[in-house]
Order: sequence, then C-alpha cells, then structure tokens
Amino acid sequence: SKEQIEREKEQAAQYVAARIPDHIVLGLGSGTTAAYFVKAIHDRIEKEHLDIECVATSVGTQQLAEKLGMRMLDVNTIDAVDVTVDGADVVDDHLDGIKGGGAALLFEKLVANMSKRNVWIVDERKPRHSLEGQMLPVEVIPFGGMGVFRYLRDNGYHPAFRFQENGDIMATDSGNYLIDITIPKDADLQALSENLKKQTGVVEHGLFLNICDEMVVGGDQVKVVKR
Ligand code: A5P
Repeated sequence: SKEQIEREKEQAAQYVAARIPDHIVLGLGSGTTAAYFVKAIHDRIEKEHLDIECVATSVGTQQLAEKLGMRMLDVNTIDAVDVTVDGADVVDDHLDGIKGGGAALLFEKLVANMSKRNVWIVDERKPRHSLEGQMLPVEVIPFGGMGVFRYLRDNGYHPAFRFQENGDIMATDSGNYLIDITIPKDADLQALSENLKKQTGVVEHGLFLNICDEMVVGGDQVKVVKR
C-alpha cells in the first residue's frame, strides 16, 4: 500500500541518518525518500549539535535544507564529499541502478562521483534482478535534442520526451530536456552508458554503474546490501 511504501522510505532514511558520523561533508540526495533523510539528519544535527556541512543534489533539496537551516556548501568550493545519501528508481543485484525519475540525475551524478561513499535508501519496490526493460532518463540540451531523439528512436530505444502535468516539456534544474528510453533486453549496461554519453547533445543519463556502495531497503527489518 501507499502508506507501507512511505513507511519503508522513512525506515531506510532513519536507519542511515542514525549512523552518519560527525565532522563530515554530507551529500543530500533528491526525491521523496531523500527528503525523509534530510529531515532525519537535520533532527540529529540539531539534537546532538553535530558538525556536519552539506551539499545538495538539486534545487529542490537545496531549498528544503536551507528552509531547515542546515549548513550548506557550494559544490564548487570542495574537493570531495565524505558520504552521499540518495534515493534511486531501480537497483539491480550488482547495486547498479537508475536515477532521474525525479529529473535530478545530473547534479546527483556529479555529487555521487565526488563522494567517497554512496548510500542509496529505497523501499521494497526498487530492488530488481536486472535493469532490463526499465525506463532510463537521458538528459539532452534543448538545441538539437530532436537529433538525439531520432537516433534513439532509430536504434530501438523507444524514446519519449518527458512532459510536465500541464503539458509543457519538462526542463531540468540546468534547463535541459529529458528523453526517457527503455533499456533493451540483454543490454550491456557499460556499453549502453558509454554509447549514450558519446552522442552529441547528451549531457548525462540516469545509469549509475559502480557508484552505489551500500543499499538500505526499508522495512520492519531494514535490509542492508553492500557492494
Ligand atoms: C531524482 O532525479 C531521482 O534520481 C531520485 O533519486 C529517484 O527518482 C528516487 O526518488 P523517490 O525517492 O522519490 O522515489
């Protein structure tokens, strides 16, 4: 049920928030699950007077954290993040996953790549054996985005531009567009990742390979899977 899913998101967020060490730079993920984590770690920082500075992975998370009064750093002023806690859309048996359901994949991947450790918090719906057949967001610059779309269509990826509820095309925090494709059966994820990045006009995509160090699945008994 919907309530069950929200409970699992919060359980995973609370579990990880309780185990964050003091005196670190912390990456704050984006999406509904990450929002539970932001609130949970904010509570701990206040109660225990922790010395934790944060970096956000989206405009939305930046705004939430600022509203709560958290100490925020500009990503361009630091060399590394100690640990980042983020959500994910789907995670496979190797802890490879897809992100970007919430459109924040570009900032998320930038922060993940500079993080010494990446922890994903998810509900029971997200872990899958494989990413085959799953929707994968591809972020493209508006100029020439149609060319990328045609390439994806002609190569069997079933692309669709992402739209907002009001019918406008969706723009990311960087003003780019998203094209959602379907990961083909038997896809070589590494090859797919590299091939997508090679296309002129593609800024980034939502395949996060070899990035997640630990997945925490919410539940009455929280499940922890390490790489
Ligand atoms: C944002 O672009 C995404 O990568 C999110 O991290 C992902 O979609 C998970 O969001 P929810 O926690 O809301 O499911």
